[in-house]
Amino acid sequence: MTSLPQHPSEGSERLRPTVAVARAARVLAAAGIDAPRVEAELLAVHVLGVPRGRLALADGLTPDQLDRYDALVARRADREPLQHLTGSAAFRHLELAVGPGVFVPRPETELLAGWGVDQARAGSPLVVDLCSGSGAIALAVAQEAPAARVVAVERSPAALARLRRAAADRAAAGDRPVEVVAADVTDPGLLSDLEGRVDVLLCNPPYVPRAVEVPPEVAAHDPDEAVFGGADGLDVIRPVLARAARLLRPGGVLGVEHDDTHGAAVPALLVADGRYEAVEEHRDLAGRPRFATARRR
Ligand SMILES: C[S@@+](CC[C@H](N)C(=O)[O-])C[C@H]1O[C@@H](n2cnc3c(N)ncnc32)[C@H](O)[C@@H]1O
Repeated sequence: MTSLPQHPSEGSERLRPTVAVARAARVLAAAGIDAPRVEAELLAVHVLGVPRGRLALADGLTPDQLDRYDALVARRADREPLQHLTGSAAFRHLELAVGPGVFVPRPETELLAGWGVDQARAGSPLVVDLCSGSGAIALAVAQEAPAARVVAVERSPAALARLRRAAADRAAAGDRPVEVVAADVTDPGLLSDLEGRVDVLLCNPPYVPRAVEVPPEVAAHDPDEAVFGGADGLDVIRPVLARAARLLRPGGVLGVEHDDTHGAAVPALLVADGRYEAVEEHRDLAGRPRFATARRR
């Protein structure tokens, strides 16, 4: 485990948050964390229980708080995901509980979820979220498009447990309940009762090609089955596109996130299928290909 420099926390002295954060940011930078200052602040906010905007004005850290903070900073320096340390991930207007064994929702997926919300706001559509994981996309749609009926499909028992808990929590908070289905999205008979009835189908599948080296946070803490999509990364996407064409009603729409190397491959699969039109590729804020959309003919 990475050791932290000594600090003046002995006795009852409190350490100002700005000083603790500056010191932690140096430790995180040395460990290769991309946004060390931001992450040092988020960990301090977590320990102090104050909003981020109030951090500079907060009381100093007590020796106990400083010990907790230092321990979390050391774990982050050892490349445990920030969200596992704080226990939650922000996703659009949601705070989702996250932890070991379940994929941590990523900010870039907010783009696909936002596209899905826009599609789901007309009328009272049937929306399906395949590979739902912790339920980020499904729960965001249920919250932001309240007239939609949302069905979330996931296979991993650990993810299903978290998804069911999150769905129950959001329903208790007043969102329309998300229906959770335990199934393999590559099953050719998936959701057979919904064939030809789905208005919006969304999917953030595992899509990283097997040989790609991923950061330590992902390699050691995200489940393999949530990340890797076979040799070319398209092992789950191919059957999902085929099944989606059976599930969508004519005029229904599909949005699928993909690897940033698949900005041509996924649209090409959609075109080659022959049952889709209006195939479009969407980029993220950094200009990287991020998700593809299409309409069922
Ligand atoms: C990249 S994660 C996405 C999770 C969530 N939708 C999100 O955006 O944060 C992919 C999810 O697909 C699930 N998964 C992988 N293969 C699957 C399959 N064949 N059937 C159902 N779920 C699958 C994994 O367990 C994981 O939760």
